Amino acid sequence: MRRHRPPPRRGRRPLPDLEVAALVDPYAPAAEAVADQLAALGRPRPGVHPDLASALAAGGVDVVAVCTLSGTHADLALEALEAGVHVVVEKPSTSRWARPGA
Ligand SMILES: NC(=O)c1ccc[n+]([C@@H]2O[C@H](COP(=O)([O-])OP(=O)(O)OC[C@H]3O[C@@H](n4cnc5c(N)ncnc54)[C@H](O)[C@@H]3O)[C@@H](O)[C@H]2O)c1
Repeated sequence: MRRHRPPPRRGRRPLPDLEVAALVDPYAPAAEAVADQLAALGRPRPGVHPDLASALAAGGVDVVAVCTLSGTHADLALEALEAGVHVVVEKPSTSRWARPGA
């Protein structure tokens, strides 16, 4: 049996070579709050967008991290992949076993 262990503290530091280029949330205050937190840490303040298409169109995105509600992951991941960027998807990747294109 494997035991759950908390991540090492160093895992909680911002990655020095990673910049959050954009935050996407249809509920703007949620994204604005995260942008404020990053700025308070001395990181560049990312742009805030209401949808993924807007963020991708703004450019400068190499990787999209999909961390929305379950059931929305597959469509957003496919949209990002079709735009030619890498994708990290939170579990679960889809809410249906049979999903065209997923
Ligand atoms: N890996 C883990 O251990 C772990 C832990 C907790 C949650 N999760 C996963 O993370 C995901 C999010 O969980 P949460 O607790 O942060 O949820 P949450 O409800 O707190 O946050 C989800 C956010 O996504 C936004 N959103 C909804 N639709 C969107 C869209 N189309 N585009 C952009 N943003 C959109 C919502 O406005 C909300 O602010 C879930 O799928 C959950 O399974 C993973």
